[in-house]
Amino acid sequence: MRLKWVEVPTRRGGPALSTLRPVGQAEAESNSLSARYGKDAQPLHTDGAHLPHPPDIVVLACETTSTTPTRLWSRNRNGLFAERLPDFVQHGVFLIASGKDSFFTTATKGGHLRYDPGCMIPCDARARQSVRFFEERESAVTEHQWSEPAQVLLIDNRRVLHARASAAHEPEREIQRLNFYLNREA
Ligand SMILES: [Fe+2]
Repeated sequence: MRLKWVEVPTRRGGPALSTLRPVGQAEAESNSLSARYGKDAQPLHTDGAHLPHPPDIVVLACETTSTTPTRLWSRNRNGLFAERLPDFVQHGVFLIASGKDSFFTTATKGGHLRYDPGCMIPCDARARQSVRFFEERESAVTEHQWSEPAQVLLIDNRRVLHARASAAHEPEREIQRLNFYLNREA
């Protein structure tokens, strides 16, 4: 069966396939996580949170190896029971500031997560509680180690948050990224 996966560029008009390298704050693109965190550890986030429709799948691949793990957090961490998301996560309102394309949103809708503290500005007390909630999840991550060459990691971007651990010690790290929508016609 043909998979109806459609590639999603993370920046309008940009390429779908990107090579991710640790960049310092000064060289980073504005509004990117690197602009705020540089080569240090990133906060947990979903990709494309600034898009009206964030991508469903994030594919990360590393041709060689990397000593910087990718951290993952899922509600379904133990396989059986999904951690219930508190009401404030469902109702807190965030602003995605992106010029004339700005819009308000919540961090979860219909069981799907959208969260990126780099581009989502909390607008009420519940949204600020949500920021703390996701910060606390940093202590409950699973780390994917890029210890073998040619590994590919598929992330369910609507249910799992991810983050790069600190890459300050590994400026030469290179990860290829491709994001997809599922079940859509090109
Ligand atoms: Fe990301």
